Amino acid sequence: SINALLPARDRTTPTRPRRQSSATFELGNQFFIPLSRTLSNREAALPADLTFASALALIISLSIGSGIFSSPGLVLAHAGSVGAALGVWLIGGLLFPIMGGCCYAELGTMLPSSGGEHPYLMAAVGDLPAFLFSWTGATVTRPASVSIITLIAAEYTVRLMFYARPADEALPLWLVRTTAIVFIAILTTLNCVSTKAGTTVQNILTVLKVLSLCLIGAIGIYKLGTGAVVSGGDSLFQHSSTSPVDYALALAPALWAYDGWNNVNLVAGELRNPTRDLPRAITIGPTIVIAVYLLANIAYYAVLPTSVITASHAIAMSFGKEVFGHSGAIVIPLVVIAATLGASNASIFTGARLAHVSARAGHLPSFLGNIHARHRTPFNALVTQSALSVLFVLVGDFKSLVNFYSMIAWVFYLLAVLALMVLRRTQPGLDRPFRVWTPVAWVFLASTVFLLVTGAAGAPGEAFGAACFLVSGVPAWYIVVRKKLGWEELGSRLMAPFRRLVERLPWVAVRP
Ligand code: ARG
Repeated sequence: SINALLPARDRTTPTRPRRQSSATFELGNQFFIPLSRTLSNREAALPADLTFASALALIISLSIGSGIFSSPGLVLAHAGSVGAALGVWLIGGLLFPIMGGCCYAELGTMLPSSGGEHPYLMAAVGDLPAFLFSWTGATVTRPASVSIITLIAAEYTVRLMFYARPADEALPLWLVRTTAIVFIAILTTLNCVSTKAGTTVQNILTVLKVLSLCLIGAIGIYKLGTGAVVSGGDSLFQHSSTSPVDYALALAPALWAYDGWNNVNLVAGELRNPTRDLPRAITIGPTIVIAVYLLANIAYYAVLPTSVITASHAIAMSFGKEVFGHSGAIVIPLVVIAATLGASNASIFTGARLAHVSARAGHLPSFLGNIHARHRTPFNALVTQSALSVLFVLVGDFKSLVNFYSMIAWVFYLLAVLALMVLRRTQPGLDRPFRVWTPVAWVFLASTVFLLVTGAAGAPGEAFGAACFLVSGVPAWYIVVRKKLGWEELGSRLMAPFRRLVERLPWVAVRP
């Protein structure tokens, strides 16, 4: 029922108790929290502590990460001209963060509970799509996105350690990976210990990175003002591509840079005043992000020749060397490290909430829904997420992980906005403090379909992988939710043979 989707403070009846099973999976608690006790999901909810400033910082912090320091070259290469590339950055920003953001503002104020797409899909279409969202989110997309961003942070950290070496020299991969794992461990610990520590770090890093991008922009504008010209042709639009597929390929990296705009919806239940703050944060945040991204791009174009931009994967580095000379090799990596660590911190924070909420809905194993008794953080979800992130750090590759991530993320953006349309028909009586103008939702839906189709054509391998992964959630849903077995019972049945084996060992005393 709708009631179950509302945050605990607005609920009138208790949530339906889930099937309790044998002791095996209670292991979850002992395994993860040997020293302290957790509160079970029915005992406590996460406190509603987040202010407007934290919500705004969350969006900005999650959005400004690896993308703006690495994708501009790809965008330019596909768009063909400086004018078209800037157009892609602007349109990408309007399409997803702004239009999508408005749709998500309606969803989030109508159903102000944490969990992002999960509660909307539950309310509109039922538990299969909601289950698939949790399934892909908790196991792949969220941990993978943390790994992608942290890998970039680690790469720049290692670059800093070897700053005397030429920029194109390969970095020791083991060192990059180890650094990434250390970063994940530090940020996860911070988030486990306190929500406040996590958000304070986030706020500081957010201010830092917005200021740095503004500084980059100011340098660009100064250069343009003092006679610098943008290279690459007689007019800004000369050599622009005319193929829609090229524009889809140019949009994809820009949308990765903007991604994160929807993440306040994941913690809507923890906002002090969701009705007022969610729409404000979800519109103001991306507006700031779009502005600083355009500024940064203009600065790159004012300082670097287009041929260098298209060839560069670490464009901020080239920019820094050009402007600051040798010290650019120190300043710019510091900016990128601050930005990416902030984004990865924010992603760890919201990703764990997703697992936590889905577990409370019975779609993920229930130990993930527990809250640390003393710190009141989703401890188990945080630890599990970072374990998976470490795995992706060890096996992952930046480009295919991004493609894979985007395919799955876009499918759920599409489904969430479809859910918005469905809910307008099926639940017309629900209070909608923020209503998006319907054509905006249609444009968002149409562009998502366009991106998915062209994206699948452009990266068929990743699209196939993403589809397989989504489909693999269906049998899990069938057993766990449809057949009402629950993860605990499934786990305990899978473990039964092993348990019987252990009980036969002569030195194991079985309690009566
Ligand atoms: N925009 C970020 C970046 O450029 C990526 C955000 C990924 N999304 C997420 N939910 N973690 O690095």
